[in-house]
Parts: sequence; structure tokens; C-alpha cells
Amino acid sequence: MATGLTSLAFSDTGASRPASLTAGTSAAPCATPKGRPWCDTSLPPGTRAKLVVKALTGDEKLALLAGDDLVGPLRATDDARFRAGTVHGVARLGIPDLYLVDAGSMGVKQGPNTALAAGLSLAATFDTAAAGRAAGVVADEAAHRGNDVVLGPAVDIVRTPKGGRTFESYGEDPLLASRMGVAWIRTVQKAGLLAEVKHFPANNQEENRYAVNAVIDQRTLREIYLAPFEAAVRQGKVASVMCGYNLVNGRPSCSGKTLLDGVLRKQWGFDGMVVSDWGLAAKDTEGSIKAGLDLEMPVGVRYTPPALASALTSGKITWADIDARLQARLRVMFAYGMFDKPKRANDGEAGYTRNAATAQDLAEQGITLLKNTGGVLPLNTGTKVAVIGRAADQFRSGIGSMYVKPTSTTTPLQGIIARAGAGNVTYNDGSDPQAAADTARAAQVAVVVAADARAEDADVTCLTLKCGTAKDQTLGDQDALIDAVAAANPNTVVVLQTGGPVLTPWAAKTKGIVETWYAGQRGGAAIARVLYGDTDPGGRLPVSFPATEGDAPASGDPAHYPGTGGKVTYAEGVNIGYRHYDTRKITPAFPFGHGLSYTTFKLTGLKATRTAVTVTVTNTGKRRGLAVPQLYLGLRAAPGAAQPPKQLKGFTKAGLAPGQSVKVTFPLDARAFAYWDQRTRAWKRAPGCAKAMVGTSSRTIDLTGTIC
Ligand code: BGC
Repeated sequence: MATGLTSLAFSDTGASRPASLTAGTSAAPCATPKGRPWCDTSLPPGTRAKLVVKALTGDEKLALLAGDDLVGPLRATDDARFRAGTVHGVARLGIPDLYLVDAGSMGVKQGPNTALAAGLSLAATFDTAAAGRAAGVVADEAAHRGNDVVLGPAVDIVRTPKGGRTFESYGEDPLLASRMGVAWIRTVQKAGLLAEVKHFPANNQEENRYAVNAVIDQRTLREIYLAPFEAAVRQGKVASVMCGYNLVNGRPSCSGKTLLDGVLRKQWGFDGMVVSDWGLAAKDTEGSIKAGLDLEMPVGVRYTPPALASALTSGKITWADIDARLQARLRVMFAYGMFDKPKRANDGEAGYTRNAATAQDLAEQGITLLKNTGGVLPLNTGTKVAVIGRAADQFRSGIGSMYVKPTSTTTPLQGIIARAGAGNVTYNDGSDPQAAADTARAAQVAVVVAADARAEDADVTCLTLKCGTAKDQTLGDQDALIDAVAAANPNTVVVLQTGGPVLTPWAAKTKGIVETWYAGQRGGAAIARVLYGDTDPGGRLPVSFPATEGDAPASGDPAHYPGTGGKVTYAEGVNIGYRHYDTRKITPAFPFGHGLSYTTFKLTGLKATRTAVTVTVTNTGKRRGLAVPQLYLGLRAAPGAAQPPKQLKGFTKAGLAPGQSVKVTFPLDARAFAYWDQRTRAWKRAPGCAKAMVGTSSRTIDLTGTIC
């Protein structure tokens, strides 16, 4: 026992101190190692953590279990001084403060920073190197804003296309989300910052987000929702995990011992820190301490010194429990050198020019060409283009903790004018569809830019471009606008800027559809480059686009979504995303993995074994282009474990010149052939042979083989 209960009077460690710009000239805590045995760098981080925990008083211990700043989270986006979280240390012992910033695929939310494209755009690159580059920008800017922990990546799977935070995610497939997440985490952590993967274990809707109880069978949890977290831990060696607001199978995420302790720490070997989502995620004191929640953020509600003291007094928790939580957090802080290096300065000296260029390049890689009839795209420089829609002259982003205030912006209209010359472009904001139609009629090609409005804390109420924009009334009825423009000009191209799947009822009336997601601060320039063919559209859909709302997964029964009586039942099991469309034989408007190039590709020579599938990809067209061959396996069902027709097991991206070929290998491991067996509670190889399918989308399979 570290200390008696008599010394429990809470002494504030400095909660009133502002989270100010840090000087960065401060010496490392262990620069003065005298009397501090935990400063011995020859000891393993775990031992050092134990030594420092031993030196803490009871008061100090209880004050270290929660954050200390409420102002930062409220101000984080506009002012470089404010970040999402601050946990004060103990100066007496040289325990440093811990600074946590909202930073994910879209950038760093702490004053103006580079606004990268949405997580969905990054996932649409189908390129783990792109994830690494995006993470490099984030690490650079988060570090130069003086942070230790970045609160990303968000690897929650898109279950319903109505999800308010789909834009932050890596889409509907666990393998894609896993690979992007791991690449992102590795880059951030290589730069010396801690990544915090979120929101464990299954945070899939914003509707009733603080209280909803997600009822999910074990197989679905393991195969779909936990998979990206498992990869983050086992492959990415992620330093931190954020537990979510919701409950899973009746247990709050931050006090579910089976998952937080049993699965995360014991089965997967996670040795980092578990942090609660901001406010209201830690639902109780005792359960959270016992399950392994190390830190409550942004301030203590369940982990206040009085609450902890009372749990200690009543014997519900012990000092050993407290020590275990502190040791977990301090161990990672030692492992990341926080005692041995000076704190990073909030100097704002990141490479912003370089980062903006990277942001544009990544946005281009994620832009997904959904339809291109009669070669309407790419545009010729001299073509007279009518640009239509209010969104065309806006910087579009998702709203919430992943809204990054950009350092500068280029709207699509600005990008197109810069590329084509003002003389070739007319603009109409679309507020009067008739006037917009007139503008469109006078041009050779009409480009309608239409957006949705997604935000944290609320799902969209429908998937159309009419009511799906409730959060942004300025956009109006964009479906009607597209109809009016398409009726006026047969060469209509729709440029979507959406944070998730939307309905495209007007698709047949248009010649081109380009999904650009939320494309970040240089999105307008990226869009122009793709429209004019300066680069091939690099993206492929990381989410299926349904033809109607009722076709989407989890639709049609309020018990399945958004839930009834506080409960949402994942009755579809593993069949979400394309697994749903395939199993139910529903044709999506645009399938997962789909995305056109300006050139054509041919896949040949499939060879399939248990350890790898290889194919040759050839550019058969006249332009340089980006190919994204995808490997799906169809596993045979075991009794009681039906299998979706196909599951993504590999993908790669290759830039090919006309006539050029490349041999592509998709490595396969045992897990690729396995399903979660509920009876034995273990991964089990699916029986018999597996069908190997390689194609250019989940619905365009060019080659098949059998693996026995
Ligand atoms: C979000 C988290 C975010 C945190 C801090 C919460 O509301 O769910 O994703 O990191 O706020 O801003």
C-alpha cells in the first residue's frame, strides 16, 4: 500500500494554470536525476514507472488519474494555445504534464493548421503509403504545437451510411481500416508522439451517442469492429486507446472489463494507456478502475479525488488498483522519453508549405471517379465550363473534434478558374435553379458541386442532398439543382463533396460523377487537377453507395438503427457494407472498391496459393493511370457460421504508364482464412476451399481461382 487514507485531502496540482504556449526551453525532468531513481535510463520503462509511482503521495496519485483543463477542449480549434486535453504532472518528482490534441486523418485541431482531406478520402487512396504521409503532416504539426499525444486515428467501422462521423473513418471494411490505421500509427509514433486509436470498441453512430447500448455478437465484434483495434495494437503497437461513450453488450466501453482487460491487454498484449472519451465516457469509478481505464478526460467526473477516495474507503477499489492505472500511463510516458527529453515547444514552426502540398497530393489520390460517360472527363483547358452550386465556392469539412481550421483554402471554383483561366469559367451559386440552368445551358460542360453536412454528435437524417444537409441550410435542395442543370446541359458533371455515402437519384441524367469527399484546404486545386486530367483520379470507394435508403445496411428496423429503448441491435452480424449488399443480393448505386481511371487496365495470370495470390496488371489504355487491384476471398460456411460471399483480403495501388505491366502479390496469412468461432471462442480456419477473386471493385471481379 502506497499510502494511508488519512492523507487524502485533495490538493490541486494546478488546474487553474492556463494551457498556454509552452516555451520549449525547459530541461528534461531527468536532467536533474539526483534522488530520482526512475531517471536511470538503463531500467525498463515499466520498472521506472513503478519507482516513480512509489514516490507519490496518496493525494498526488489521485490527482493524476484525470485531466485538468476544460477550457482547452472548448477553444481548441481557433487558438494555437488551446488543445483538447492537459494532464498536469507532479513538479516535485519531475513528472511532466501530458498534452493531448485532437489530430486525426484531417489534421491537427489547435489553431490554424493544415486541413487534410477526410479520413474517408485517405481510405479511398487504398494506399498505406498515403496514410503514412498524412500522418507525417499530423506528427509534424502536432509536435510543433507542443503535444505528446494525438487523439487518432479513428478506426470505427461505418455501419450505417447515416453516421455523423463517417467522414473521419476509414470506411466499411475492417482490413482497409486496419491497414490504414496501422500505417498512420506507425508514422506518428516513429516521430515520437503517442497515437491514440479510437473509439474502442464499437462506436458506430452519433445518434444517442453518450448512452446507446450496442448489442453485438462475439463473432461480429471480433471480425468487424475489433479487427482494426487488434491490428492497431498487434501490428501498430499503438501507445494509447480511447474508450468510447457508448455501451457494448450492456457494459460501458470504459468499464467493460472483458474487452478492456481481457481482450485488449491480456489477449492482444496492449501495454499502453487507456483514456476515456471526453466527458461522460467513464460511467462509474469502480468499474472503470477495475477494467483498466487509466485516465479520465478532459477532467475528472468519476475519477475526482473525492470519488476515488470514497471508492477506496468503501473497499471497492484498492491502492494496488490505483497504482496499476498510474503505472500503465507512466510506463508509456517513460517509453516515449517524456522524462528524458525536454517538452516540445509550441513554436508553430512546422513545415506548413510542404504540408499544404502534401495535403493537395493526398486529396488527389483520394478523389474517386464514379461515372464517366462518353469521356466527358477529363476536361480540355479551353472548354467553356459553368460551375454551379454554393458548395463550389466553399471550404467544406466535417464538423466537430475533427474540424481543422485551415491555414489557407482553395475552393473548387478557385481551383477550376486557376486551372482553366477565368475566361473559360462562369459561376452561378445555384440559389435560383432556373438561373443556374441558364448558366449551364450557355456552357459546353456544367460542373455542379454538391455537398453534404456531416457533424459529430448527430447522424444525418437522410442520405439525399436535400435533407441530408440539415446542418447547413445554405446548401438548399441540391438534388433539384442537379436535375435542373442536367436538363439544361447534357454534359453535366456532378462533383460531390460528402463525408459519407449519399443517394444519386439523378445519376442517369448526368455524364460524370466525381466523389471528392471533404478534400482539405487545397481540395479545390486537387479537384481541378483531376477534372482536367493533370492526374489520374486515384480513389476507390471505401464505402458502398446505396441506390435507396432502404437498401443500406441496418436500415428498415429502428431496433437495428438508430435503436429503441437505448439499445441498438447489430442483427445483421458481419454483413455490413458490401458484405450486406452481396449477401442480400442488392445492387448498390456504386459498390465498395469502385472508382474509374482515365485509362483502362487488364488483370491476367491469377495464381492462388494459401500464402499468396498473384496477378499481373496491365495498363491497356493511352494514358498513365493508377490501378487498384483488390483481392477478395469467399470462405466456405461452417455450421452456424454463414459467410458473406466475399471479404477484402488484399489491395495494392500501382501507377502504370500505357502498355506497362506489373506483377502484384497479395500475401495471405492464416487469419485471412479464419472466422471467429463463437463456440470455442477462438479463430478457426473456414472449412474446405476458399474462392479467390481479384478485380477492380467488390462488384467487378475479373479473375477467380480456388485455394484449398
Ligand atoms: C470525441 C473524440 C475527441 C474528443 C476530444 C469527443 O467528443 O468523441 O473523438 O477526441 O471529443 O475533443
